[in-house]
Amino acid sequence: MKRRLGLVGCGAIGSTVARLLEKRRSSFVVTGLYDVSPAQAQKLSKRLKSRPRVFDSPSDLVGHVDWVLEAASVKAVPALARMALQRRKPLVAMSSGGVLGHFAEISRLAEKYRTKVYLPSGALAGLDGVRAARQLGKINKITITSTKPPRGFAGAPGLTAAQKKALYSSRKAFYLYQGDVWGAIRRFPANVNVSATLALASGNPKLVKVKVMADPKARLNQHQVEVAGAFGQLTAVTRNQPSAENPKTSALAIQAALALFERLERFVEIGN
Ligand SMILES: NC(=O)c1ccc[n+]([C@@H]2O[C@H](COP(=O)([O-])OP(=O)(O)OC[C@H]3O[C@@H](n4cnc5c(N)ncnc54)[C@H](O)[C@@H]3O)[C@@H](O)[C@H]2O)c1
Repeated sequence: MKRRLGLVGCGAIGSTVARLLEKRRSSFVVTGLYDVSPAQAQKLSKRLKSRPRVFDSPSDLVGHVDWVLEAASVKAVPALARMALQRRKPLVAMSSGGVLGHFAEISRLAEKYRTKVYLPSGALAGLDGVRAARQLGKINKITITSTKPPRGFAGAPGLTAAQKKALYSSRKAFYLYQGDVWGAIRRFPANVNVSATLALASGNPKLVKVKVMADPKARLNQHQVEVAGAFGQLTAVTRNQPSAENPKTSALAIQAALALFERLERFVEIGN
């Protein structure tokens, strides 16, 4: 059964996922594209054999597809989620930070329209353990420390003037942020979606402490998750190659989206 997939955001994640779904002859066929930069969408359309149609608005796109993949930005998520759910189109959202702030509304709409929202595990490992750990007994601690090379933070809206300077001059690793997950997403919306995914998977976002670090010696994007509770303890460290197209994004995040589409096609599911 073919499923028409509409892609919102044709950057590092969107364009690679679209190309690989096509290469793998997935039942998810990208038939529509939308990007705030129409040139990006046109460029991708030309690279795909299916020559998906480029739409002028996300709303138009949603009307012409069966499923929607968001790979655009945290800000794009709330309106897109409303549009997709109200028309009963399942949504796969990469910018989980955009779900975090609107979780109650998005959950309510998903339930009302009997339509699912999927947040791939993205650049992170360990969410299966977190989801299992919350089933019984108390979780006392959840910390995520995200460390990237300084260039990965260029342009982040939450950088202070001193931090901007330090990004290019410091030879030592330093913290850019330590605090709750909402502040982390506000200040580093293109860097720490993993913390929002973790917070939502835990069912208790208030418990999550986020630390964001720039390390001039780092070559990889690292996420370290520490969880402690009645179940015991969990430490998960993921060291990811940055995507060649966008150093803020880890290659594993792209692969996680592909893994989700693969899982949606399988009749035997592995992992919780
Ligand atoms: N969940 C995770 O683990 C994870 C990991 C990496 C990236 N992300 C997030 O996924 C999203 C995509 O990442 P990317 O690396 O492909 O980014 P990118 O910058 O390479 O591409 C984003 C594309 O979306 C377009 N865009 C921006 N705002 C838009 C909007 N409102 N509507 C339509 N198009 C819009 C841009 O023009 C660009 O072409 C980002 O929000 C990023 O933070 C999530």
